[in-house]
Amino acid sequence: MKHLVLLCHPNETGYCASLAHAYVTRLRDEGHPVSFRDLYQEPIEGVLSAREYQATRRGAYTADLARAHEDLLAAEVITFFFPLWWMGFPALLKGWVDRAFSYGFAYEMDGETPLPLLSGRRAATVATMGSAREDYKGDGSLAAMEHLWRRHVFGFCGITLDATLWLGNASLATDEERASHRAEVEELASQWAR
Ligand SMILES: Cc1cc2nc3c(=O)[nH]c(=O)nc-3n(C[C@H](O)[C@H](O)[C@H](O)COP(=O)(O)O)c2cc1C
Repeated sequence: MKHLVLLCHPNETGYCASLAHAYVTRLRDEGHPVSFRDLYQEPIEGVLSAREYQATRRGAYTADLARAHEDLLAAEVITFFFPLWWMGFPALLKGWVDRAFSYGFAYEMDGETPLPLLSGRRAATVATMGSAREDYKGDGSLAAMEHLWRRHVFGFCGITLDATLWLGNASLATDEERASHRAEVEELASQWAR
């Protein structure tokens, strides 16, 4: 399967990045073609500007946005690696979604009815978090985020969100926890071959 892997963390050699690289390595070892983009290292606008908002309504896209569209069109599976920031995507990744899941490219509207344009694609999210997974699982936070992303972000564009990994205690993870996170990530990579 053709994979697009997006990393969004300001530390290009930190923990989140190391997990993304382990995932990409496993995918490639298993024969999948992978495009890897580290958003903080890309020459990419982080915000859907007023000018761009108008332009995309006319189907006019800047070069960096057109490239993001090419990445999405080429991909059968899209995986996001990011730290959970204020219970959501870091702003740069949210901005990428705002921009790349563009009107006229990722969805259209028939009156009030959305028409998804990226159907058939699959997605996964891998979030590192400072909190313990059990804490957010117990209070319903993980289920809430999964529901919103599955139904109203990816699903809105026709993309099936197949997997969400929540890697807790990431700031102070012990060696054992790190090994466990890495195993989860590599298992996710292996699952696409099945
Ligand atoms: C701006 C900001 C917001 C954060 N918000 C959350 C949060 O809502 N929940 C959480 O569990 N951790 C939160 N964290 C902690 C990060 O998710 C955690 O530090 C990261 O996933 C671990 O990797 P790092 O230390 O390499 O950044 C936040 C960190 C920052 C800098």
